[in-house]
Amino acid sequence: MCGIVGYVGERKAAPILLSGLSKLEYRGYDSAGIAVYEKDRLQVIKTKGRLKALSDMIDGGKNMSSTMGIGHTRWATHGEPNDINSHPHLSQSSEIAVVHNGIIENYISLKEFLVEKGVKFLSETDTEVIAQLIEYNYRGDIVEAVMETLKDLKGSYALGVISRHNPEMFIAARKDSPLIIGAGKNENFIASDIPAILEYTRDIYILEDKEVAVLTKDSIKIYNEYGQMVNKKIFHVDWDVDAAEKGGFEHFMMKEIFEEPKVVKDTFNSRINGDLLKQDSLSFTAEQLNKIEKIFIVACGTAYHAGIVGKYLIEDLSGIPVETDVASEFRYRNPIINEKCLTIIISQSGETIDTLFALREAKSRGSKILSIVNVVGSSIARESDSVIYTLAGPEIAVASTKAYNTQLAALYTIALDFANKKNRINSEELKEKINTLKEIPGQIEKVLEKREGIQKFAANHYNAKSVFFIGRGLDYALAMEGSLKLKEISYIHSEAYAGGELKHGTIALIEKGTLVLCSVTQDALIEKMVSNIREVKSRGAVVMAITQEKNKLVESVADTVINIPDISSMFAPLTAATVMQLFAYYMSVLKGCDVDKPRNLAKSVTVE
Ligand code: AGP
Ligand code: GLU
Repeated sequence: MCGIVGYVGERKAAPILLSGLSKLEYRGYDSAGIAVYEKDRLQVIKTKGRLKALSDMIDGGKNMSSTMGIGHTRWATHGEPNDINSHPHLSQSSEIAVVHNGIIENYISLKEFLVEKGVKFLSETDTEVIAQLIEYNYRGDIVEAVMETLKDLKGSYALGVISRHNPEMFIAARKDSPLIIGAGKNENFIASDIPAILEYTRDIYILEDKEVAVLTKDSIKIYNEYGQMVNKKIFHVDWDVDAAEKGGFEHFMMKEIFEEPKVVKDTFNSRINGDLLKQDSLSFTAEQLNKIEKIFIVACGTAYHAGIVGKYLIEDLSGIPVETDVASEFRYRNPIINEKCLTIIISQSGETIDTLFALREAKSRGSKILSIVNVVGSSIARESDSVIYTLAGPEIAVASTKAYNTQLAALYTIALDFANKKNRINSEELKEKINTLKEIPGQIEKVLEKREGIQKFAANHYNAKSVFFIGRGLDYALAMEGSLKLKEISYIHSEAYAGGELKHGTIALIEKGTLVLCSVTQDALIEKMVSNIREVKSRGAVVMAITQEKNKLVESVADTVINIPDISSMFAPLTAATVMQLFAYYMSVLKGCDVDKPRNLAKSVTVE
C-alpha cells in the first residue's frame, strides 16, 4: 500500500525519487511528494493526485541539485487526500522531514502531549506526530532522537527520515510495514518494494520489524531496537526489471493473464517431478500429518477465494476437515485452534497486514504455519514454518490474476500430497491426477486463443448495472473470485451466489436483462445448474455460461456459452478462472476504467 523511496549518493536525488515512485504507482495512492536537502534547508514538494502532477511542478526534478532525499506516494488513512496531508511531513521548525506507510494507532495521545508542549500541527495525519516527536526528542543526535521516538509509537510503520542537521544521511525504520534497503556503489536506497530500485541495484537487505537503518552514500548500518548493530545477509534479486514492465501489452493485467500458462507450469514444476510429488518443499511427514485434526486456510480477497477452492480440494482428496477464514475476521474471533491444527496462509505480496497478524495469532496458539506466498523474503514467508512459493513473478496490476492461478496450482499439489500421505489415493490415481495437472497450462493457452468470444459478450453488456455470478461446489468458489474481479476493475455491482441459494431471496433481483454468469464445470452438479439457469432465464436474465466443450446440455439453455477444454471437474477451476479474468478485463476496458490502478484500491494492503 502506498510507497516510499529514499536516495543518498552522488547523483541528483529528485529524478531518482520520481522514477522510483513511478515503479510503485501500481500499489495505489492518492497523493505524492518528495523532500530533498536543497540550499541549506529541507525542501518539500507535494501534491494531491498523480505523480505526473508532482513531476510537472518540479520539471522532473532536473534543476534540483540535492543528492539526498525521500519520496512518498500516500494512500490516505488519516485525513482526506489533499496537499497538506500528503507526505513528507515537516517538523515545526522544518528541520526534520518524514515519510510513513502504515498507521500510528496512538497518534491522538501523542498529539495531545505535543500540543500541550506548544507544538503546532498543520495536517490531520497520524504521520505528522512522528516528525514532531523526533524534533521534540532531538538533543543533537538524530539517530538517537529517532530511536527514542520509535519507543513511543504504537501501530505499524515503514519510515524514511531526513534532517537538516545531517544532510549526508537518512534513517529508515520499520514495524509491520515492508521496507527494503538497496545497496549500490557510492549510493544507497530504501524502498517499500523491489521494483522501485531494481534499475539501480540488485543487492538488497530486508529490514526486519523494529530495526533501524542509517544510510550514507557509502555505508549502511542496521541496528536492532536496543541500538545494537545487526549483521545482515545481502539478498540478490535474480528477476529482471522487464518482468515488471508491460512488454507490449496495453495493460499489466492483460500481460499477466497471458503469463498464466507459463507461471502455472513453473509452479507445478517446482512441486512435481515426473509423475511424482517432490517432497523437499514441504516439511510434513505422514506421521506429522496424521496428528493434524483440522486445517485453517486464512487469507484476504483473491487469496481467500483461492483458499475456498483449497478447502474443497483438501477435504475431498485428503479427508482432513478445513475451515476457511477471512484474515481480518480470524484474528479477532477467538478461533478454536491449537497444536493439532495446521494453518495455511495465502498471500501474493506476503505483506498484507491482516493476513500477517492472523498468521501470528495462529502461531501463538500453537498451530504450524504453511504459507503460499509469491514474494520471496516477504514478512509472511519469513514467519512461516514452511513456505511454498508461487512462481508468478512480479504482479503489478492491482487486480490479482496470475497469482490466483498459481495459488490454485500450489493448492492442488498440497491436496494431492496430503491425500497421498494419508493413503487416500493409490499411486496410480496420483499419477493420473498429476498428469491431468500437467495438461492445464496448455488448456489455459487455448482459452486465451479463443478470447474474442468473451470480448464480444463484454462488448454487448458493458453497460450492465449489476451482474450475478452463480455456481455450485468448486464453481461457487470460482464465482466469488469472478465477482470480485469484475467489481474491483469495472465498478459494476456484482454478487456471487451458490446456485441453490439464489431462490432463498436474491432471485427477487433478477429481472428482464439482468446479467448472470454461470460457471458449470462440475459433472455431478450440471443438471442442478441447468435448473438454476432455467430459473433465472424464465425471469428474463441474460446468461453466459462457462463449461467444458462436452456439456452440450448447457448450450441448450444459456444465451452464450464460453467453452473451456474438456477436463475432469476437479481441475476445471484453473482454466475457468482465466475466462472470468478476461471477462472482467474487457468490461473494464470498454467502460474506460483505469484497469491496472482501480480507484480506492491498493496492491498491497499494509494497513488494517
Ligand atoms: C485482488 O484482486 C485484490 N486486489 C485483493 O483482494 C488481494 O487479493 C488481497 O488484498 C490480498 O493480497 P495478498 O495476496 O497480497 O495478501
Ligand atoms: N497513515 C498515514 C496517512 O494517512 C500513512 C498512509 C500511508 O500508508 O500512505 O497519511
